[in-house]
Amino acid sequence: MAFYPLERLINLKDGYRQTFVVNHKELMLVQVAGERFVFQASCPHKHWPLMAGKIVGKTIECAKHGAQFSMETGLIATDDCSVDCGGLLVWPVVYEGTQIGINVPAGE
Ligand code: FES
Repeated sequence: MAFYPLERLINLKDGYRQTFVVNHKELMLVQVAGERFVFQASCPHKHWPLMAGKIVGKTIECAKHGAQFSMETGLIATDDCSVDCGGLLVWPVVYEGTQIGINVPAGE
C-alpha cells in the first residue's frame, strides 16, 4: 500500500468537502464535527453527485432520490429506502506528516 495525499491538514475545517480523482475513481473528502470521511463521490443508485448531498451527523443524503448513506461504513442508512442500490465505497483516512489521504494498492 502507498499513501496518496488528498489535502493539507491546515486546509481542513468543519464543512469542508472536496472531490478528487484517484486511480480513475472519484472520491470525496469531508469534515463534519471534527471527523473526516472519504467515500465515493457519486451515489451508487444512479450515480448522482453527492457533492450537493445533505449531511446530517455521519450520514449523507443523495439529493436525487433521498437515499442516505453512512459516511463511516458506507452502508445505506435509510430505513424505508425504496432505492435499490448497494452501499458507498469508503476508504479509511490516513495521516502522513501534514497531510490527509488514503492508502492505495502499490502500483496503482
Ligand atoms: S441517485 Fe442517489 S438515491 Fe437515486
